[in-house]
Amino acid sequence: MVEKLLEVKDLKTHFHTFKGIVKAVDGVSFKLNKGEILGIVGESGGGKSVTGFSILKLIEDPGKIENGEIIFNGENLVNKSEREMKEIRGSKISMIFQDPMTSLNPLYTIQQQIEEVLKLHTDMNAKQRKQRCINLLDDVGIPQPEARLKSYPHQFSGGMRQRAIIAAALAAEPELIIADEPTTALDVTIQAQILRLMKKLVKEKNTSLLLITHDLAVVAEMVDRAIVLYCGQVMETGKIDDLIHQPIHPYTYGLLNSIPRLDDQKKRLSQIEGMVPNMFELPEGCNYSPRCDYCQERCLQEEPKIREIHEGHRVSCHYPLSREG
Ligand SMILES: Nc1ncnc2c1ncn2[C@@H]1O[C@H](COP(=O)(O)OP(=O)(O)OP(=O)(O)O)[C@@H](O)[C@H]1O
Ligand SMILES: [Mg+2]
Repeated sequence: MVEKLLEVKDLKTHFHTFKGIVKAVDGVSFKLNKGEILGIVGESGGGKSVTGFSILKLIEDPGKIENGEIIFNGENLVNKSEREMKEIRGSKISMIFQDPMTSLNPLYTIQQQIEEVLKLHTDMNAKQRKQRCINLLDDVGIPQPEARLKSYPHQFSGGMRQRAIIAAALAAEPELIIADEPTTALDVTIQAQILRLMKKLVKEKNTSLLLITHDLAVVAEMVDRAIVLYCGQVMETGKIDDLIHQPIHPYTYGLLNSIPRLDDQKKRLSQIEGMVPNMFELPEGCNYSPRCDYCQERCLQEEPKIREIHEGHRVSCHYPLSREG
């Protein structure tokens, strides 16, 4: 049976800067089921990280959640106090941050860092915690885990550090992991190994995963569904096969054509023409209109609303591309 774990409804997170308001997340809605992997995709500045931070209520001044609900296990996190959120962070929801070097403290051993999560969120004794650390390092594929417990982060390779970060994120058996570009800092072969490992671990434990990435190719192999963000808004959402094979928003189509094709590595990747707009001067009508090959008069005046085109396949576009078949 499909059970809903998280529902984000009309989330708006804005930054009130001295230059004006940045609507980093502007009316984002999506659902995530138990055990499901959902991708959040889009170019730099689209609002992916701010969406992730909003769910954990890690938005700091001058940012603010202005509107919306974040329903996690039936409870609205927007109304929770900082004390209540501290209980949730790391235990029920854990996050793997975009910058891997900030996730591990160079002054503490790997064991101390994973144990910290266990001390905070479980009642295990020292012996149980140590055994759990060994098991976790083993799960994430670190050889000779017992010997490696006493290592410091700098004694690990980049790939091993990322595995240790994943081990810490899994330590308290959270129901949801938010992984923000978890492998971008690693080289391509290691990226693939680590993503495969993450998928295996979350599927085994029926953990839900929100995987944030700018790379649609990464998402294609990992996720069940994805949402495509642009200027803080959802452009398109649907099952990953639909998004990859039958994209209906010109932006998704552009993103797909800007990644190297696996069957033709040498083909030069085309970029989407034009720049992401200045967040202080968003266009009237559709935010994507200045870069869109299919833009028409209406797109310059009227902001499109998201609507369902096909079962589970939604788009925010006045003139979506047609689905084949
Ligand atoms: N503290 C802040 N103050 C002002 N603006 C901010 C702040 N944090 C984020 N923003 C703005 O919010 C928007 C969304 O940022 P976000 O970090 O979510 O993008 P992203 O999709 O994660 O991009 P990337 O792929 O580069 O990580 C950007 O325009 C960014 O400049
Ligand atoms: Mg980001």
